[in-house]
Amino acid sequence: MSGKGGSDHSELLIEPDELMRRIDSYADLTMLTTVALEAIEMAGAPNCSVPELVEVIEKDPRLVTGILTLSNSVAYQTRREVKSVQHAVMLVGLSQCQNLIVSCSIQSLLTKMPSSVEWARNVIWRHSLQTATLARYFNQQLDLGFEGEEFSGAIVHDIGRLLLAAAAPDVFEVVDRMTFHESRRILQTERALIGTDHCEMGAIVGVADKLPAALVEVIRYHHTPEEAREHAPLVRLVAAADEAANRLMHYGTAEGFEIEDDSAFAKFLQPLSISWEEGTRLAVEGMWLVDDVAGTS
Ligand SMILES: [Fe+2]
Ligand SMILES: [Fe+2]
Repeated sequence: MSGKGGSDHSELLIEPDELMRRIDSYADLTMLTTVALEAIEMAGAPNCSVPELVEVIEKDPRLVTGILTLSNSVAYQTRREVKSVQHAVMLVGLSQCQNLIVSCSIQSLLTKMPSSVEWARNVIWRHSLQTATLARYFNQQLDLGFEGEEFSGAIVHDIGRLLLAAAAPDVFEVVDRMTFHESRRILQTERALIGTDHCEMGAIVGVADKLPAALVEVIRYHHTPEEAREHAPLVRLVAAADEAANRLMHYGTAEGFEIEDDSAFAKFLQPLSISWEEGTRLAVEGMWLVDDVAGTS
């Protein structure tokens, strides 16, 4: 992988190739296990048999625990307690099930991270969950027609930050200040320090791990949604949710939220022909809602 932005590698905290080598050699850092991949493929097949799918999922105890925990969480908004994988699959449907598996896989990846970065891991997971809940809320309120990919896309969007924290904790501490005061500048800063950025790093690993293309696009472009391609509407939605979630993390409140020119929220609303006034109301309502989800994990 080559660095972008003409960085002088002699000034980097770590060479990009060395960073990717560390990520690669971090044996357990595979986002999707063989079982998860098989299950995602099965759930996407037109004639999928639910009992057979459940049988596959049950080969991976971490996946089972994750599915039960997440489908019962506030974020997933299920009304009855989900007690079995079969129940979870029937309740959320096959398409949502694929997204549930991706989300659970990320959650189990978190448990494999070094304890030295436990704080960062928990905060980024909370931010991912808040972003996912906001993306789901905007999707529902605006009837955008996404079927769960908005949730899993938001769950994985900052995977590059988690990979950096896991593979190079010392570098992560300098690069990612965890202020959630994010702008396009954050990518320039990262490139100046490590010759790459969390979007590029996450996307490379996402491709290698065979994540669905839509999710890879979300990871790659969530700070530059105007560059998104086939999945631009999904990227714009997650980028807007990310922006609102960042605001909530940074200021701790929805109060005072205003849509700014050239913001991800403005880029999200523009093709939908939604006024900034309506968009502001939606964002603020969403932020109040996710404040309740803050402790969910
Ligand atoms: Fe990000
Ligand atoms: Fe983010």
